[in-house]
Amino acid sequence: MSQEATSLTRALQGLVEESIRRAGGWLPFDRFMALALYAPGLGYYANDLRKFGPMPSSGSDFVTAPEMSPLFGQALAVQVADALRATGTGEVWEFGAGSGALAVQLLQALGPQVRRYTIVDLSGSLRLRQQEALAGFGSQVEWVSELPQAMRGVVVGNEVLDAMPVKLLVRIEGTWHERGVTAAGPDGTLAWADRPTELRPPVDIAGSHDYLTEIHPQAQAFVRTLADRLERGAAFFIDYGFTESEYYHPQRNMGTLMCHRGHMADADPLPDLGRKDITAHVNFTGLALAAQEAGLPTLGYTTQARFLMNCGLVPLLAQAPLAARAAGHRLIAEHEMGELFKVIGFYRGEFWDAVGFREGDRTHTL
Ligand SMILES: C[S@@+](CC[C@H](N)C(=O)[O-])C[C@H]1O[C@@H](n2cnc3c(N)ncnc32)[C@H](O)[C@@H]1O
Repeated sequence: MSQEATSLTRALQGLVEESIRRAGGWLPFDRFMALALYAPGLGYYANDLRKFGPMPSSGSDFVTAPEMSPLFGQALAVQVADALRATGTGEVWEFGAGSGALAVQLLQALGPQVRRYTIVDLSGSLRLRQQEALAGFGSQVEWVSELPQAMRGVVVGNEVLDAMPVKLLVRIEGTWHERGVTAAGPDGTLAWADRPTELRPPVDIAGSHDYLTEIHPQAQAFVRTLADRLERGAAFFIDYGFTESEYYHPQRNMGTLMCHRGHMADADPLPDLGRKDITAHVNFTGLALAAQEAGLPTLGYTTQARFLMNCGLVPLLAQAPLAARAAGHRLIAEHEMGELFKVIGFYRGEFWDAVGFREGDRTHTL
């Protein structure tokens, strides 16, 4: 382990311990997750360590669809072009742009159809990487760290919602608790601590067995803010997750919280602070309800495989060289990203029959 990584973890651990002390000895998990991922300069998405890439040998932790294959962005561009036309807008807004790979793919495919491409990212260190990747597009690309009061255009976000802090709820012997973090482990290390709570999952969990799960107030607040600001346009979010009835299925009693490091997954976010990604699956029903209540109805909801195929991925695959075809196929293979990953679309203005949801729309299952 590099010295840089060790001192980073130590500094972040100190910051978390200080926050626990200031909060009276217990930090709800969402506040812990916000620090672990976004504490300025130290959090996983705020430090300079490498994150995205196809192989652990590159020092990366996980691979996302645009990193895996440029065909992802090429197919998504078909939907973005359709949405720009249908909503009469000329701007693209990308949330959480990672290495900038998706922005490059979309801009290459869409060219002058996009008057301006604006990236909104919480991570300052990733912004530098994005600026390098997108240098060739000049003033077509802009960065902002906050949403403007009013925006028009087509919004995209790949694997952004899963990176938003969640609250952990745990039912123990029939009583619901909120799970948080204390510094009461051996030698002052971080440890779990549960407190009784009035909070509940959005649906009753059948049975009386012990049950750990998440709720997603931040992702829902995010989509409400988007609904408030998007005057005209549409939004497309791609991520892993389920509808509410699948998410809170009685058998899913261990929740979906997951850490990623060196292309390995584990379920313990407390050690190695700042050096592993922490994520939770998306509750697409909760997201759609929050958006709808704020005036942003659902345009469509389907699997990534269905969406990309509706956008013409199959002919793109057929034209691609053999090696690129294998990577592109992982985007739609059921046992890879095809089925677990979903796409949800929202619109402001007139509904239209969006190309990505034309076949296999599952909005009725939300
Ligand atoms: C898992 S990465 C995905 C990166 C990229 N979209 C990709 O597919 O490779 C999550 C990204 O979302 C960003 N993020 C999380 N919450 C955000 C928010 N509220 N607004 C903008 N970006 C956010 C993080 O900083 C990080 O860059």
